[in-house]
Amino acid sequence: MASLLTYSLFIIFSLISSSFHSINGVFIKQYLTEAKQMKRTEKMSHLHFYFHDILSGKNPSSVQIIESPSKGKASLGFGTTFMMDDPLTEGEEPTSKIVGRAQGLYSFASQKDIALLMVCNYVFTEGKYNGSSLSILGRNPVLNNVREMPIVGGSGLFRFARGYALAHTVQFDSNTGDAIVEYNVYVLHY
Ligand SMILES: *[C@@H]1O[C@H](CO)[C@@H](O)[C@H](O)[C@H]1NC(C)=O
Repeated sequence: MASLLTYSLFIIFSLISSSFHSINGVFIKQYLTEAKQMKRTEKMSHLHFYFHDILSGKNPSSVQIIESPSKGKASLGFGTTFMMDDPLTEGEEPTSKIVGRAQGLYSFASQKDIALLMVCNYVFTEGKYNGSSLSILGRNPVLNNVREMPIVGGSGLFRFARGYALAHTVQFDSNTGDAIVEYNVYVLHY
């Protein structure tokens, strides 16, 4: 019995050590960056568009999906969460040309003031950026004149993107909650 156990342990140890040996001598492997392989250089793009967050009417672009458990604090308490699929337009008017959509979540993430956690993808539908997207993960204190949020990544032409978005509310209807927000986005990508 003991010899069988010893034998089994020996086999297991051999298997483990052989799999360790298979990568012996390779501590870190480096590759040319995609930009070098493709002979591309890093660029900075500045995007400007308007974001339309529509809570009112028959076809809202943003819907509340989580209610705050903190009672008595109307509907905008800590934890309240919305899911949006908001149009992004070239100009400020809602009828202006649509250049993309902001798809994701925002939650009331501060107990003391009004600050949203934004987790969303901005997917573009116009021109050469059609189908490319930027991912935003940031804090949005909506009552501030200008809010800065990090761009943490991207896809398509925005692969390897990093940068920041500056958001400024240009219209807000306090009855409905509908808002139009101007965005200036600065992003480094290849
Ligand atoms: C964007 O891409 C989609 C899918 O590839 C295509 O159907 C659409 O016509 C394109 N839009 C523009 C404006 O190029």
